[in-house]
Amino acid sequence: GQLEEMSLPLYFGWFLLSSIQDKVRCTAMDFLKTLDTLEAFKKHLIDFTGKAEVDLEEYFEAKGTLHCTTKFCDYGKAEGAKEYAEKPAVKDFYGSAFELSLSALFVTPRTVGARVSLTEEQLLLWPADAEKEAGSPSMPLGNRAHVTLGCAEGVEPVQTGLDLLEILALQQEGHQGELIEEMELGSLTYYGEGRWLLSLREPICSPACFSSFYG
Ligand code: A2P
Repeated sequence: GQLEEMSLPLYFGWFLLSSIQDKVRCTAMDFLKTLDTLEAFKKHLIDFTGKAEVDLEEYFEAKGTLHCTTKFCDYGKAEGAKEYAEKPAVKDFYGSAFELSLSALFVTPRTVGARVSLTEEQLLLWPADAEKEAGSPSMPLGNRAHVTLGCAEGVEPVQTGLDLLEILALQQEGHQGELIEEMELGSLTYYGEGRWLLSLREPICSPACFSSFYG
């Protein structure tokens, strides 16, 4: 019935402290602004939009409160939703505070996001099949962890984790990417096809509450 449908959330995840959300949004905006002006970005712009010009700050739409999804449950309709909600770690840590480490920012023609580097304890809350579900069965557990910062028009946020996995798969296959420059925030690498990764010199540490979102 309808009540049963409401018993599982849209998703579980870590929700960033609101003051840090502002900081992360600002950092991402600054990064997009800088990226936009780089000669290297202009040189590869054709991979990005096929157009002669792009305003990255307008290109991406922000998506709600910043969080790192652990399990997308779709109110119970997603595979493994119930099993996840019943995991002892999920029950034990529900409502607990964590410190998330945002270790990189990435931009593709579809999404902009932050990579989240999970600790061993945080991995207890990570679904065992998250990478497999994304079509990357050989990727280490937790590699998909991210915060969606924005999506291009018509792109769903689920794409952000897939874009991150694509970049990490290239790295894993031994592609170094093209080191573009050392920026104040960290080193910027280009992976082709409009995929950019900024490894943060200082990861952004954010307090985050493990909880769920019903929508
Ligand atoms: P993400 O975690 O990349 O931000 P929506 O608004 O599309 O219903 O999505 C709600 C949240 O659940 C978003 O955070 C989104 O992506 C995530 N999400 C949506 N679909 C999936 C999916 N199939 N697998 C994993 N996460 C998903």
